[in-house]
Amino acid sequence: MAAEIIDGKLIASQIREDLKKDVEKLKKDGITPGLGVILVGADPASKSYVTAKERACDDLGLYSENIKLPEDTSEKDLLALVEEMNNNPKIDGILVQLPLPKHIDTDKVIMSISPSKDVDGFHPESIGKMLMGKDTFLPCTPHGIIKLLLHSKVQVEGANVVVVGRSNIVGKPVANLLLDKSEGGNATVTVCHSRTKNMAEITKKADILIAAIGKAEFITADMIKDGAVVIDVGVNRVEDSSKKRGYRLVGDVEFNTAFEKASKITPVPGGVGPMTITMLMYNTVESARNR
Ligand code: GUN
Repeated sequence: MAAEIIDGKLIASQIREDLKKDVEKLKKDGITPGLGVILVGADPASKSYVTAKERACDDLGLYSENIKLPEDTSEKDLLALVEEMNNNPKIDGILVQLPLPKHIDTDKVIMSISPSKDVDGFHPESIGKMLMGKDTFLPCTPHGIIKLLLHSKVQVEGANVVVVGRSNIVGKPVANLLLDKSEGGNATVTVCHSRTKNMAEITKKADILIAAIGKAEFITADMIKDGAVVIDVGVNRVEDSSKKRGYRLVGDVEFNTAFEKASKITPVPGGVGPMTITMLMYNTVESARNR
């Protein structure tokens, strides 16, 4: 059986059309939603994410400030910049691109962002509220995954979901959202990670398998149940001399073999990625509305 492709680009563009209307309405009331993005260093993947965020802001008519700082920026200077954005009335959302250089304390920076502008949903206050099922900014990739599942009419309630990966950005929060007593939740959730024993035995029981482990093509067809829904969060660069840029992007799932086994699957690129950026825009518009 060949899987149906879950077209993240298409679903994201539909959500962005609705957002565009929300932005127009806010602008009529004299409010232009604004996003501040800070990139420290020159990591190529981070640079391309930040460029995609800038483009999304332009497309939606959002105000954006994009600050690019050198790798050797001090923690003190970065914290001062975040504080400036916390106090800037034109900025509704602040995003500090991760990972940060090693000499900067990431948790300290995340905690310096005002929870009212935490459109990444990484601040402990946002995470705590999410865990409690309270209204808050939800982290963008996990929220995007839930939206993808809902738009693709995947039955989440009561499903056996296996999440592979336990990062603070994806694995832990998406497991929590899937568990939550809300639409797109109510699943039975198992989380696998680098210390999990007999991982394939567990992943093969998944009705929905979410791969967020950050290892190229880690999930192979023999780890997937026939007819499972496969969500691939990974974006990995692998060398490919046949490409002009010298690499190609692959997910955490070996797509070609998984495609034959799954009932629905997200591609890389064009699956989860566009949803992440869309949910960032969604949070920024929501924050402007709360202004
Ligand atoms: N690095 C990779 N994903 C993300 C994200 O969603 N937000 C931020 N700030 N950094 C990231």
